[in-house]
Amino acid sequence: MVAHLEIGRHRSGFDSPVCLNASGANAHLLGYHNGRYRILGETMDTGVGNAIDKFTRHLGWSHPGGPKVERRAREGEYHDLPYVVKGMDFSFSGIMSAAKDAVDDGAPVEDVCAGLQETIFAMLTEVAERALSLTGTDELVLGGGVGQNARLREMLESMCEQRGAEFYAPEPRFLRDNAGMIAVLGAKMYDAGDTLAVSESSVDPNFRPDEVAVTWRGDDEDVVRDPTASETIRGAEATVTIEADRVIKRRVPKAYRHPSLDERLRAERTRAEARLTSAARRVGVPTPVVYDVDPTEGTLVFQRVGDDDLAAALSVDRCRAVGRHLAAIHAAGFVHGDPTTRNVRVGDDRTYLIDFGLGYHTGHVEDHAMDLHVFKQSVAGTAADAEPLLAAVEEGYAAVGDAAVRTRLREVEGRGRYQSATQ
Ligand SMILES: Nc1ncnc2c1ncn2[C@@H]1O[C@H](COP(=O)(O)OP(=O)(O)O)[C@@H](O)[C@H]1O
Ligand SMILES: [Mg+2]
Repeated sequence: MVAHLEIGRHRSGFDSPVCLNASGANAHLLGYHNGRYRILGETMDTGVGNAIDKFTRHLGWSHPGGPKVERRAREGEYHDLPYVVKGMDFSFSGIMSAAKDAVDDGAPVEDVCAGLQETIFAMLTEVAERALSLTGTDELVLGGGVGQNARLREMLESMCEQRGAEFYAPEPRFLRDNAGMIAVLGAKMYDAGDTLAVSESSVDPNFRPDEVAVTWRGDDEDVVRDPTASETIRGAEATVTIEADRVIKRRVPKAYRHPSLDERLRAERTRAEARLTSAARRVGVPTPVVYDVDPTEGTLVFQRVGDDDLAAALSVDRCRAVGRHLAAIHAAGFVHGDPTTRNVRVGDDRTYLIDFGLGYHTGHVEDHAMDLHVFKQSVAGTAADAEPLLAAVEEGYAAVGDAAVRTRLREVEGRGRYQSATQ
């Protein structure tokens, strides 16, 4: 997995790219931070190729399903399917069931193939864009066998172009698992003096990328660009113009998405954001006042709050406050949906939650635990010394929140879908 990123970095000449790894058994984003490759976002269930294969097995098509879906999709019209992005993570199982049901109910198989590609690749592209925003980088590389899909490459290319970022996709032989990329990584490690006697080596299928000490890169290669430095900010999904005492947020149409999906997501999220931003304030969580909302245009006008994103000003007290705030909204029956360190604003003595566009009403312990998990992951992915901060998040949550959520969180953290997906 590290070699997928490194071969892209090696061939592109990029400095510090984020890598989308989309293969049969995997779907995740890796980014470099503080001597390690961190998992910035990942699938909550199966890898992307395996998900597609589940659908094609249902149709009785032979393995591998991906290329067949790609071919049939070219003859189809877009078919609406569930779209599931939760902060930096995503899941495929609901979409696959809906796709199977659609075919069973008589929808043309070409249309379902088209809808399937448009939906799951838009999800991957969106999360890739979120990872660029979170890390403040503007280089993306692709890895994994599903990276051979022309539509996925086109979407990623289009997203990067619209964002002003650079995109590199290695040629197909370096996308699939291959000895060449392992050799390139091996050579880099060897040059860095990072070697291991063959007699001491073995295969550890539970080895996660973030456990690998990255010895072959300088520690100074961390991305330092501050995305809030300019007047108009490219957020994880919107464009935000900062004025003296208000901000204007626009969910501009994304060229990479199918127009129907694009329209649906922009309107849904703008509406949810207006509603939940105010609902949170009513239960005592600091949020900006909503001055205006236009769901069809995808625009919102907010009070300007805070001096910094939490990402730039992490502290134990603020992490504790976010824990408390998440517990308060969960008690009120909804989740934030994307509580990253860029969606928290800090200033004076207040810690504001912003960007509720992925939030929704839910009383499920699982959803509440996921919210907390997303926040902890984003702290872990951006902080130099995360442990005390993560402990403070939990402390803050425990002070107000339901104990069952933290029990479930342990389970979420230990699920290890990633570990078993490595073979
Ligand atoms: N009300 C606000 N006050 C101050 N800064 C804001 C406000 N809303 C957004 N920002 C800034 O703009 C960035 C992007 O806004 P956000 O709502 O998170 O959009 P996106 O959905 O694209 O991530 C935030 O990370 C923050 O720096
Ligand atoms: Mg945001």
